[in-house]
Amino acid sequence: MINNIKGFVEQLNYDAEVFGNSFEYSGKRIFISGMGGSGAVADLLSDWLDGEIIPVKGYNLPAFAENGDLGIFVSYSGNTEETLSVLDKALRRGLKCICISSGGALEEIARDRGLLFLKVPSGFQPREAYGFLISAVVKALKIVGYLSEDAQREYSSAVGKLSNYLPELSSEDSKTYEVAGKLYRRIPLIYSQFYSVAVRWKNQINENAKNFAHISIFPEHNHNEIEGFEFPDFLKDKAWIIFLRTDFDHGRVKLRMEVVKEILREEVVGISEVWAKGESKLEQILYLIWFGDFVSYWLALMNSTDPYRIDRINSLKERLKIHTSGG
Ligand code: PA5
Repeated sequence: MINNIKGFVEQLNYDAEVFGNSFEYSGKRIFISGMGGSGAVADLLSDWLDGEIIPVKGYNLPAFAENGDLGIFVSYSGNTEETLSVLDKALRRGLKCICISSGGALEEIARDRGLLFLKVPSGFQPREAYGFLISAVVKALKIVGYLSEDAQREYSSAVGKLSNYLPELSSEDSKTYEVAGKLYRRIPLIYSQFYSVAVRWKNQINENAKNFAHISIFPEHNHNEIEGFEFPDFLKDKAWIIFLRTDFDHGRVKLRMEVVKEILREEVVGISEVWAKGESKLEQILYLIWFGDFVSYWLALMNSTDPYRIDRINSLKERLKIHTSGG
């Protein structure tokens, strides 16, 4: 897995194979449907493009999605039932649809119907293929004429510069290893303004390190979670806060994070912060995400667990297969 984490930048440069019928999209709304490691792409695009993208997690297409809107369906395996369910609804409602997978039912449906389909390499865990999935969605948005020249330049430049950080992120004497050490045997409380960053950290820590983690998004955190530190008592001995910070955080969020550090200092075992590097918002978001991927890997090693193993997810999917009801 470490080699695939190191290979993130190559994945972000991947040129996915394209099949099916192309089209132009000049509308405004774009729904990206996907779950887990695949759905994380929708979160990234939504944060990067300032909410123009609407992530769809679950079985249902939002009621306001209508004929002519664009839907992008991302499932690494191509067999995720929630994503297939949303695709079915989108096709019936007349959305323009693009599918992205390494194979599976999503590829079959796309090919049968002549939908625009981008194929990513197989043989990875979905969360390890994050860079492939991001580059495929970016390519799809380019093909349909949606992604502005400025956004395309920002993507190329961010990805170009990201590889400079590989040495400082990937070694065992790096800050990534140090942060993993702080989280060992603890409950990470991950705080960020950007949902895509916080949730990717959590998901990677959950799946790779089999470690519980919690996220909270600023400034919403300040209006509820900040009161939740009196109970249970063990938080004081177990919780470790990580602030994930960017230059693109709202000025008041930067201030709020400083104040929250003062208020919660005595309520948890410790507090760390990771400042993003890079120039553009996308570069900073990708830097933090990549940082977290390494943290999750080191934490898996510290927890003596196999980062590949996802027994509970597999068992859940197997058990659901035998029950056809509930659709
Ligand atoms: O990382 C994982 O294995 C999961 O989070 C999957 O991404 C999730 O279950 C959805 O599967 P897929 O990515 O194949 O659509």
